[in-house]
Amino acid sequence: MCGIVGYISKERNPNSLRLGLEALKRLEYRGYDSAGFAFWDAEKKEIVCQKSVGKIAKLEEKVNGNGNKPVLANPIILHTRWATTGEVTEINAHPHSDCAGKIWLAHNGIIENFHVLKQKLEEEGHKLSSDTDTEVIAHMIEKFFSGNLEDAVRKALPYLKGTYGLVVISKDDPEKLVAAKLGSPLLVGLGENEYLVASDPAAVIAHTKKVIYLDDGEMVSISPNSFSITKGYNVQQKKPENIEWDMEDAQKGGHPHFMLKEILDQPESINNSIRGRVLAEEGKARLGGIRYIEDKLREVEKIKIVACGTAYYAGLIGKYMLEEYGGVPVEVDLASEFRYRKPILDKKTMVIAVSQSGETADTLGAIKEAKEKGAMILGIVNAVGSAIARESGVGIYNHAGPEIGVASTKAFTSQVTILALLSLYLGRQRGLSLVMGQRIAKEILSLPGLVRETLNLNDRVRELAGKYKDYDNFLYLGRKYNLPVALEGALKLKEISYIHAEGYGAGEMKHGPIALIDENFPSIVICPSDSVYDKVVSCIEQIRCRKGKVVVIATEGNENIKKIADDVIYIPKTLEMLTPIVSVVPLQLFAYHMAALRGCEIDKPRNLAKSVTVE
Ligand code: F6R
Repeated sequence: MCGIVGYISKERNPNSLRLGLEALKRLEYRGYDSAGFAFWDAEKKEIVCQKSVGKIAKLEEKVNGNGNKPVLANPIILHTRWATTGEVTEINAHPHSDCAGKIWLAHNGIIENFHVLKQKLEEEGHKLSSDTDTEVIAHMIEKFFSGNLEDAVRKALPYLKGTYGLVVISKDDPEKLVAAKLGSPLLVGLGENEYLVASDPAAVIAHTKKVIYLDDGEMVSISPNSFSITKGYNVQQKKPENIEWDMEDAQKGGHPHFMLKEILDQPESINNSIRGRVLAEEGKARLGGIRYIEDKLREVEKIKIVACGTAYYAGLIGKYMLEEYGGVPVEVDLASEFRYRKPILDKKTMVIAVSQSGETADTLGAIKEAKEKGAMILGIVNAVGSAIARESGVGIYNHAGPEIGVASTKAFTSQVTILALLSLYLGRQRGLSLVMGQRIAKEILSLPGLVRETLNLNDRVRELAGKYKDYDNFLYLGRKYNLPVALEGALKLKEISYIHAEGYGAGEMKHGPIALIDENFPSIVICPSDSVYDKVVSCIEQIRCRKGKVVVIATEGNENIKKIADDVIYIPKTLEMLTPIVSVVPLQLFAYHMAALRGCEIDKPRNLAKSVTVE
């Protein structure tokens, strides 16, 4: 996701640009598609800006291409962009400037009312050149500027609806770096010879461990020798805190493993996946990546989803959603099988490839095959610009942020969320009622909060893992929307804790797996209060008769279930189609704590790779 750095040196320092770029590079782990910087050249008395699509190394090449002459760059603002509004181009990369090129700004977050602001600014004569929401902020600051940058930023901010972490510099108030925060993280690093502003502690840790975290609504104005934090016009006195982590820990946000960080990140990653895509009043989804094929989508007669592993399980949930609400018949295939089973495809078939990395060889192979047979391809991909994103042509990015832990967690909930949005989109094209559309839209918007609530179960799940950590076999059961969740829960457990776990449809129990059950073979049953609740309860009773231990994932308020379960984990209620996004969370935490208690290497389990680029 986007990263911000601001750098201001207390002394004349010809190395400041290099230091700023190094700080920016420490945010590379978050993923990005373009980068840029702007600085005040104290000798030439001008602001210099450079941007490029791709890696920071490309920006450095540009700097070196200028003969690598030392410049007195002070202050500097730098940014890595993960595109959300506007395509991945140099023009859309940050920093952005006002009409006169005097005010330069980098921004994380999203300005929800940017269309309205842009129109007004254009009516007033401002010339905007990018497709981004960010650019309007630079022009709003220009509008209020009368010599003092801090004042202009303070006056512009109340007009912005949405979230921001931003850093600004100006040619007409050149020795100042102003930063402000609302909803996106921002901190000030207090170095010996410099100040830094960053969206992530990882950027400042090599310079200083003394930081001040800004709170929402706060602004900081930094000059080479002093800084002041304000909220409105009130000065805030804040004590610096010490970062206790080292560099790797900083990237993990202070958590012991990336996997835990990514599980806990899910309210934010889901929020990023749905931001700007839900039209609550109209009961519709707005999916920019597929707007060009809107008419073609109306003609789609069947959908085939291809994916591997966790992404395949997300696809299985997608089938239930797309058939029930999208009104299209769906088949889901393991990508590794798809191309070898001679699938029947035509122009009215849409093949959806779901992939976090966008580099999985089997999924890539499957869509190449489908393309050759004339099918329409749509990618649901997290990694921007990856092979599957490029091969798909049209697609929907997850915007879940980079996933580093090998076991996929936040990508899964994001994939299911995108499939829910797609079901809403197609459903509303095909007669899904306004009322139902509004209900789904509203519930999708409440997902980040529901997942946040579910994450409060962390301690309870850790306790449960302590109780079950010595068992060597587990059965995971679920039905309808939660059958794929059972498969995913079992996969999580086996891949990071090396415990044998099988996922099954609860209705299939009696057709075989019940033979495994005894007091040493516990079952984890996903049994929310939904349309198949009674059926799943019968399955739990069959296990109980055979002395099997049962852990049940149930809906809050269901006290009865305690009578037939050894342990219950309660999850909040949501629409049946969205339950998997909530019910999978305790299973992710369970796998994590089981692996941690058994001393397994969680982020890089044996024999596994994050991107499976071989067949
Ligand atoms: C499991 C896991 C894998 C991936 C699979 C597909 O935790 O991470 O099963 O889901 O290899 O990867 P992507 O989504 O990158 O295509």
